[in-house]
Amino acid sequence: MKFKPANHIQDLQYFGEFGGVNPSISDSSTYTFLSAKTMFDTFEGNADGCYLYSRHSSPSNLYLGEALAAMEGTETATVTASGMGAITPVLLQLCASGEHIVSSRTIYGGTYAFLKNFAPRLGINTSFVDITKLDVVEAAITPNTKVLYCESVSNPLLEVADIKGLSKIAKKHNLQLVVDNTFSPLSISPLKLGADVVVHSLTKFINGSSDTVGGVVCGTRELIDQLRNVNDGAAMLLGSTMDSLRSASVLKNLRTLHIRMQQHSHNAQYLAEKFEKDGLKTVYPGLSSHPSHELFKSMMNEKYGFSGMLTIDVGTLDKANALMELMQERNLGYLAVSLGFYKTLFSAPGSSTSSEIPEDEQAEMGLNNGLIRFSIGLDADIERTYNMMKACMIELNILESEMA
Ligand SMILES: Cc1ncc(COP(=O)(O)O)c(C=O)c1O
Repeated sequence: MKFKPANHIQDLQYFGEFGGVNPSISDSSTYTFLSAKTMFDTFEGNADGCYLYSRHSSPSNLYLGEALAAMEGTETATVTASGMGAITPVLLQLCASGEHIVSSRTIYGGTYAFLKNFAPRLGINTSFVDITKLDVVEAAITPNTKVLYCESVSNPLLEVADIKGLSKIAKKHNLQLVVDNTFSPLSISPLKLGADVVVHSLTKFINGSSDTVGGVVCGTRELIDQLRNVNDGAAMLLGSTMDSLRSASVLKNLRTLHIRMQQHSHNAQYLAEKFEKDGLKTVYPGLSSHPSHELFKSMMNEKYGFSGMLTIDVGTLDKANALMELMQERNLGYLAVSLGFYKTLFSAPGSSTSSEIPEDEQAEMGLNNGLIRFSIGLDADIERTYNMMKACMIELNILESEMA
């Protein structure tokens, strides 16, 4: 049976407190108990359906969490104040001092910085590997390894992880495969391919309006309960809780994710094909020239395409900066980090979102100075956008004029 994640979101039916079509927002940090015994039981983790304190859980957060669990096909999920607020607790929950992580080397700069600079202070060390080479991944595993970590489509190089292959390795060595699916919601369903835990930065496509940060951990009931445990749960104790008002607004945006992903992917595919034809060094998983195009195809759910992220390499940082400034001036998008907005966003990752990665390591992984990362918007007329972008490139001698 094909997995159809958008149906699972569509099929949710929540009634508000007064019969509203949206669930009521729980605007309370704390909750009353009719008996002292129930309060005690709740602290012991034994009172289903009772709320305790909103850092632990709140009705609004549970609604959003359940919707995201339905989308990813996991037993349950817990929402967090940011993507990093999901990633760091899950890794700290799964690994103790002296334990080890094998991670893709091409991951979001913040996650990389956490693993490289912060986690070692707690005795957790990470080996960074080329995630596309399964033999290299397996060779990095030690007796202390607990977690295999990757992004389904990596930030910013758009490498694609072979989740089935990684899952086999994880199962063989008794590791948890944690996949950040921020770049490919709906398109890829990591759990269905063998991942154990799926995390997202909701800040990006899922919320889609660049008005908040947010995150989620989707996994088994056991893991999510552990994360929320009042005695030793990393989500509970590190306190990266999402605010209820925000979870209510993210839930409303989630309902249009399927339409938005189709348009982001359609527009990105169109531009990637045109840019490649024009002779620009273009990376997009939807191009047959992408080394993992077939792999992505073999993993993807129908309809949502190859997502909205693409990169071009214009050679130098100066050229990249000039192009981004000109495109912003022409109102083609914003020179801004992040992704998933209705307008196109562009940034040069080497000097922004991946600046935590030292320059020599950037060069080794192919992250060149002239690389521009695009999050393609929902533009209604992508041909017009393309023509305007091309005009900017011709003006800056990045492309030659056909007239010349
Ligand atoms: C792939 C990926 N994962 C995680 C994050 C972190 O998310 P947040 O900024 O919501 O903490 C980002 C942010 O850029 C990202 O691109």
